[in-house]
Amino acid sequence: MGPTDMFRLDGKVAFIPGGSGGIGSTLAAGVCEAGAQVAVVDRDGDGLARTCSRMREAGSQPLAIAADLTRKEDADRAVVETVDHFGRLDIVINAIGGGAGKVLFDAEDYPVPEWDWIFDLNLRTTLLATQAAVRAMIEGGQGGKVVNISSVRGQLGINAGYSAYVAAKGAIDSLTRQWATEWAKHGITVNAISPTFVDTPQVAMLLDDPDFKAAIVNRVPLGRVGETRDLLGPVLLFCSEASAFVTGQILTIDGGLTATQ
Ligand SMILES: NC(=O)c1ccc[n+]([C@@H]2O[C@H](COP(=O)([O-])OP(=O)(O)OC[C@H]3O[C@@H](n4cnc5c(N)ncnc54)[C@H](O)[C@@H]3O)[C@@H](O)[C@H]2O)c1
Repeated sequence: MGPTDMFRLDGKVAFIPGGSGGIGSTLAAGVCEAGAQVAVVDRDGDGLARTCSRMREAGSQPLAIAADLTRKEDADRAVVETVDHFGRLDIVINAIGGGAGKVLFDAEDYPVPEWDWIFDLNLRTTLLATQAAVRAMIEGGQGGKVVNISSVRGQLGINAGYSAYVAAKGAIDSLTRQWATEWAKHGITVNAISPTFVDTPQVAMLLDDPDFKAAIVNRVPLGRVGETRDLLGPVLLFCSEASAFVTGQILTIDGGLTATQ
């Protein structure tokens, strides 16, 4: 096996919750390019259809699964459909989440309904999708790869009303280490990426404000916000044999932002 072959995913099946989102759709197309077969799972039916038709135009044959992954029965069904269709499940990339900028409140007044919404969107979806996928990996007996999407907010506070989001992403970081510890005996590695701002529809409105964008860019040593493609290399690393002896790690993808803190 040549050194770059270690990053190939031929013969592997990737299960991607949030696979038609801003980040998820780039990752779904990218792991296909690297040789994997992909189940794209999302509750947005139109986005799912658009993402999968773009992937088909590029020559891939994704399985589209409409599901709400805050619901255990949907998560379990999505995994069953994936294994029925492809015969196995090797990789889960958890790309559901976000919402941070929509619900900003002072920490002392952070309202419970918004707290629960952020936790459901970021943590419950990751929990239910991963539990279902990992049960299939354990049953398959061939190991597996879990990749979580956290955020630099899992590590850094910000003076701007983000209590629920930082808590949910901090929990994703902790679960990454906990799951890595518990599932190593099954040959399953668990790692996370932690991006700063990535140019996606979810943050487009914020980045459209030139002053806001300049303030972000000025804090980032590499002098720009992230692009979804910036996440693909690290995700391929964590999905592939190139990271065979790496587990429980959180890789920050932030143009050097946290290095300055
Ligand atoms: N965009 C950024 O700047 C940024 C920065 C750091 C971390 N992140 C993290 O990256 C991840 C993806 O973010 P994004 O910008 O691609 O968001 P996005 O909103 O574009 O994508 C999320 C996808 O998840 C789907 N989804 C939401 N709830 C669901 C549910 N209950 N069941 C099934 N599907 C559901 C949505 O339909 C959407 O397609 C999130 O965890 C986010 O916190 C994003």
